[in-house]
Amino acid sequence: MKLSKIAVFTSGGDSPGMNAALRAVVRAARYYGIEVEGIYRGYEGMIDDDFVPLDERSVARIVDKGGTIIKSARSVAFKTKEGRQKAFDNLKKHQIDALIGIGGDGTFRGLHAFNLEFGMPVIGLPGTIDNDIVGSDYTIGFDTASNTAIEAIDKIRDTATSHNRLFLIEVMGRDAGFIALRSAIASGAKAVMLPETHTEPSELLAKIKQSGLNKRKTSNIVIVSEGNKNGNASELAEELKSMDDSFDIKVTVLGHIQRGGKPSAYDRLLASRLGVGAIEALRQGQNDIMVGVRNEKLAYTPLEKATKEHHRLQDEMLHLIEILSI
Ligand code: F6P
Repeated sequence: MKLSKIAVFTSGGDSPGMNAALRAVVRAARYYGIEVEGIYRGYEGMIDDDFVPLDERSVARIVDKGGTIIKSARSVAFKTKEGRQKAFDNLKKHQIDALIGIGGDGTFRGLHAFNLEFGMPVIGLPGTIDNDIVGSDYTIGFDTASNTAIEAIDKIRDTATSHNRLFLIEVMGRDAGFIALRSAIASGAKAVMLPETHTEPSELLAKIKQSGLNKRKTSNIVIVSEGNKNGNASELAEELKSMDDSFDIKVTVLGHIQRGGKPSAYDRLLASRLGVGAIEALRQGQNDIMVGVRNEKLAYTPLEKATKEHHRLQDEMLHLIEILSI
């Protein structure tokens, strides 16, 4: 495949480490003598012709920065044929030979459709805090987001213990419970409510009552994934209160704090590996795939598979929380 110039963009919810991935894509491309255009605001900028030439110096001193310097967006226009045609015309105008998108499954759906419709070679890199992408054990940003959640939960634990309170702490993850499960295990939570496991509020109450809140057990922390099917943290709190009003229940929603901050060492390294991996995959002639990491090695997954299948929580992790929360 001809590879004189590529374009790169970040799309969907930003995640810590996207900048490190962008830097790695740009530097690897330049290393192999390939020109790069960055596209601002994901698919929106592709449609609006918002392109910027990037070289190795344009991505200096961003490896440690949260967010994404080329910005991100969730584009409705790209879902239409007309929008995609405009985007393709702009890519042609800039003489782009291949496209690299850093984002989640929505980003990958766009890339795959684009490849089918216009034959544009595309590569996806998994950048989302949710870790919900099949074909990669970890996504860029998940490690940092769960560390942020754990740090916040540790702080809440101090005040929860001082007052003998039950805290329901809501974490992000859309429809996936990876942040919730990881932060529940690492913060020593009493229980975790996940979209994948469907725990009834009555079961949760029984578990909390089992240990009670007394002189020995002075606080309870329950992590609620925002996509929990039996309600978010506030709804669950209401339901628990209606079943038993003896608990002093507080709700904290951690929210977008989980999306920001400096990427962890793990995320910087992962992003660097995947960014270089994307350019090398293109040079090998690979197309319509996601570059991820499985069992510590780079792994390539067809984009269609990455958008259609679900990344499953590990049973071993679910087992851990059962045992460790007695
Ligand atoms: O996909 C990342 C994510 O942070 C999810 O965890 C969350 O549900 C969603 O994005 C929030 O999106 P927005 O910032 O557009 O409200």
